[in-house]
Amino acid sequence: CGIVGYIGPQEATPIIFEGLRKLEYRGYDSAGIATLTDGVISVRRSEGKLVNLEKLLAEQPLAGALGIGHTRWATHGRPSETNAHPHQAGSIVVVHNGIIENYLGLKERLQAAGHCFSSETDTEVIAHLIDSHYRANGNFETAVRAALQELRGAYAVCILCREEPDTLIAAKLGSPMVVGLGEGQFFVASDIPAILAHTREMVFLEDGELALFSGRSCRFSTIAGQPLEKKPRHIDWSPLMAEKGGYKHFMLKEIFEQPRAVRDTIAGRLLDDKGDVYLEDLRYDDAALQSIRRMVIVACGTSWHAGLTGKFLIEEHCRIPVEVDIASEFRYRKPVIDQSTLVLVISQSGETADTLAALREAKSLGAMNLAICNVVDSSIAREAAGVIYTHAGPEIGVASTKAFVTQLSALYLLTIRLGRAIHRIDAAQGARMIAALRMVPGLLEESLALNPATEKIARQYLNARDFLYLGRGKNFPIALEGALKLKEISYIHAEGYPAGEMKHGPIALIDEQVPVVVLVPKNSAYEKTVSNMEEVIARGGRVIALVTAGDREAGARAEAVLELPTVSEDLDPILLSVPLQLLAYHIAVLKGTDVDQPRNLAKSVTVE
Ligand code: G6P
Repeated sequence: CGIVGYIGPQEATPIIFEGLRKLEYRGYDSAGIATLTDGVISVRRSEGKLVNLEKLLAEQPLAGALGIGHTRWATHGRPSETNAHPHQAGSIVVVHNGIIENYLGLKERLQAAGHCFSSETDTEVIAHLIDSHYRANGNFETAVRAALQELRGAYAVCILCREEPDTLIAAKLGSPMVVGLGEGQFFVASDIPAILAHTREMVFLEDGELALFSGRSCRFSTIAGQPLEKKPRHIDWSPLMAEKGGYKHFMLKEIFEQPRAVRDTIAGRLLDDKGDVYLEDLRYDDAALQSIRRMVIVACGTSWHAGLTGKFLIEEHCRIPVEVDIASEFRYRKPVIDQSTLVLVISQSGETADTLAALREAKSLGAMNLAICNVVDSSIAREAAGVIYTHAGPEIGVASTKAFVTQLSALYLLTIRLGRAIHRIDAAQGARMIAALRMVPGLLEESLALNPATEKIARQYLNARDFLYLGRGKNFPIALEGALKLKEISYIHAEGYPAGEMKHGPIALIDEQVPVVVLVPKNSAYEKTVSNMEEVIARGGRVIALVTAGDREAGARAEAVLELPTVSEDLDPILLSVPLQLLAYHIAVLKGTDVDQPRNLAKSVTVE
């Protein structure tokens, strides 16, 4: 999502609209602007692309020198005009990025107190909550502080109050927010490109901070009210760099967004005290889940790799047999499906034609069906009976990165939910699994620190013609995914193989020219994988080992080593994905290929 706000002597609407246009590449499904002038809040919102809002503004112009705007990437509630931001409640109007975890509880409380809601969004809850405090104490600033302290989750918000014609408040927790300083005017935005045309002097809000703009002045404080001194930074990025958040490519930006992406995917879904998971759009209750005898996971490309790892998780913890199929194969092989089969389709875009056709086939055969999707209201999300959204945010790089790790996270969530429903996972084990998952965003941050070391390795192996990737168990699909990433963006031939199967064929390929990436974290398959690594070394192969931090044994034998933080065996696949993405990325950059739009590939393939 994107946020833009303005306060100053100029007309706000054109500035905000242009800012939103700069954020257009993120993809959105609705947009809106609100201004405040002469004690009146006016809101214009429209579903779909920005041109729709542009048309609406041409028909119904929006005057005023104080305003806020938003482009939406749906999380809670489908894309529609009523779910579009800004959201108004009484005197208050709000735009918001992020996810409020406790919005349902707050909503019930506010409804009981007489507040009427017109959307399905968590954002409208923020507006009502501030309004209820404002009605009680009559002070805008105090009301905002009180309301924000009640919110759990992540937000960047911009807020106006009808009775305060000269005031704009912005605050953030977990979602980005930047303040642009102009001559007697201020700009706020979720992202630098939105306001770069107006100023290069910017103040970055940190988590738990609030900016209050009043007329020509601006004050910073903590949300609790502690005043803060904040220094502006001069941003000398070109507009193109700014779009990519200062990264050279969208792919790298998206790799670095993974801690946030996983955090958003699990936000509001973990019920620690019950050792269970809440999946809001699953639409199958415990009784229905108990009727599942078999599962078939169907997907393409990277999403198929996520499915392969999902099989290990579900079979191990839920003891339900799982088959994983490629969507373009599934349809044409007369699959064995009945009412007790759950068909799970996985698709980042939700538009892949093969996957959509497979879903339709499954439905026509009477299967229970469920989708894991990143795009709200995409075709697959609409047609499947239930859906688990990954909240990776729009993925622009053709080679999937953050969508993949959120798919793995969603599969882990599903495993817990299913396991709890069918009594294969008890509350204590569920709680342990949840506790491990909670650590993942932080551990992903740590894994990203491997970036410089990975770049060095990329330089070393850049000229190889073939790569092998080996892993066992849950990490075998990660080996496939590592090889796919390299193929996709560097055009180097690469193969993923189950480490133990290498001796039955691919071992013939190994010589001094072939780098072999071995995934060998300290897990139950560790010793066996080390032996497979030895087989490579004995034949002169050059091993790049991905090991658990502190593992001297496996590391000592390899030519290059990358150490990953310790996590539970189920979650290793998520952490291992990071250095593999970075390795492919750096090799591609060094080779000078078009990283974000590799030849012959498309982000979403809508032909069968
Ligand atoms: C295309 C993309 C891949 C992606 C696959 C499945 O081939 O290039 O990166 O994994 O489609 O896409 P989906 O949106 O269904 O996950």
